[in-house]
Amino acid sequence: MSTLAIDGGPKVRYQPMPARGLLGETEKAAAVALFDAAIASGNAFGYNGPSEQQYEKDFVELMGGGFADAVNSGTNALFCALGALRLDALSEVICPPITDPGGIMPVVLAGCVPVVADADVRSYNACAEQIEPLITERTRAIVAAHIAGDAVDLAPVMALAEKHNLYVIEDCAQALGAFYQGQRLGTIGHIAAFSTMFGKHMCTGGQGGMVYTRDEKLHWQGRQFADRGKPFGVPAGSGTVGNVVAGINCNLNDLSAAIGSAQLRRLPAIVANRVKVGNAVRDALAGNPAIRVGWQVPDSQSSYWFLRMHVDLDALRVDKATFCAALAAEGIPLAVSYRAIPAECTWFREKRCFGNSGFPWDCTDYRGSKEPVARIEQAIRAVDTHFNISISESYGDPEAADIVAACEKVAAAYAK
Ligand SMILES: Cc1ncc(COP(=O)(O)O)c(C=O)c1O
Repeated sequence: MSTLAIDGGPKVRYQPMPARGLLGETEKAAAVALFDAAIASGNAFGYNGPSEQQYEKDFVELMGGGFADAVNSGTNALFCALGALRLDALSEVICPPITDPGGIMPVVLAGCVPVVADADVRSYNACAEQIEPLITERTRAIVAAHIAGDAVDLAPVMALAEKHNLYVIEDCAQALGAFYQGQRLGTIGHIAAFSTMFGKHMCTGGQGGMVYTRDEKLHWQGRQFADRGKPFGVPAGSGTVGNVVAGINCNLNDLSAAIGSAQLRRLPAIVANRVKVGNAVRDALAGNPAIRVGWQVPDSQSSYWFLRMHVDLDALRVDKATFCAALAAEGIPLAVSYRAIPAECTWFREKRCFGNSGFPWDCTDYRGSKEPVARIEQAIRAVDTHFNISISESYGDPEAADIVAACEKVAAAYAK
């Protein structure tokens, strides 16, 4: 057995991992064309113009139909998806335990009460078993986040939603291009939110997001909310005057949209490469007693925003941090802990949302728990028994082979 790099032995990989190369000449050409047209006509490009309409059409085509509204971040995509549902203030919304702050803060800012479900300990996601006990007569919606690009087991969640008359918002910020039971994630719930910030599968420049739904009514309601209540989709003669609902300005813009259309053309290759690398590592390590790609819902295909790795600490002589330090020393970029648990944060625990009011929990009209509800014991265990290996579409067979070789080497060296 060769000596671990951390102990002075040779590294599995000396080359840095390849850079993503997410933006290229096609994105640049799309942006330049927009500037050329603006300069030639003397009219600045704006938002909701031809390039944004085209981008939304391209996105809908990718999803196989439905309706899309491009917005300016993934956080605001979730905010507008909630806005589309027209939930009464103080509605309870069941939220994921492990997510970006932008995957839960919009719930509070929409005047609703986030109730945090625990994780299925085999993953970073909450599934029906964790969600069901939290449903009350006040529950109106569930946010199902597909963290790491790994699908939530949605069929039982949709069954729960149907039984209790709830909306399901899919948070696909990390899961563009992933599938569940042959269906694209984002097409299964009532409405979905995507992020297109620069670190995601595809981008619209620095920031961006997309609200997607197959329900035309929700689409128009989302659009209204995303653009200060403008009467999009309101039929003539309906009797409304001017703006029809209070909303904010979450619009994307034509420049970002032009970049987005160019990125959508790359997306199939981006996802295919990630899937190839992720599945290769998963399959190669399937029989390893100590380290493997984390459990995935049967009949699903992750789009691998990162590789969620499971470590079996009972099979090792060392703790996870020591294992990860050795793996990193072999030349594998990783994050030791994905402790993205919003319910642990000050803003959530101390109800710092609307000044000192404690709203929504402390509102006298709210009949639920005055202390924020968050079941996170299994989420913490999930974080403690997993770590993340970075992957990207620029990785190929050699990178997959190095990840596997390094994992096997470290696991063998530290085996009990
Ligand atoms: C699951 C999840 N939801 C929401 C967001 C927020 O997206 P954005 O950063 O585009 O606002 C993120 C961002 O990483 C995320 O991972």
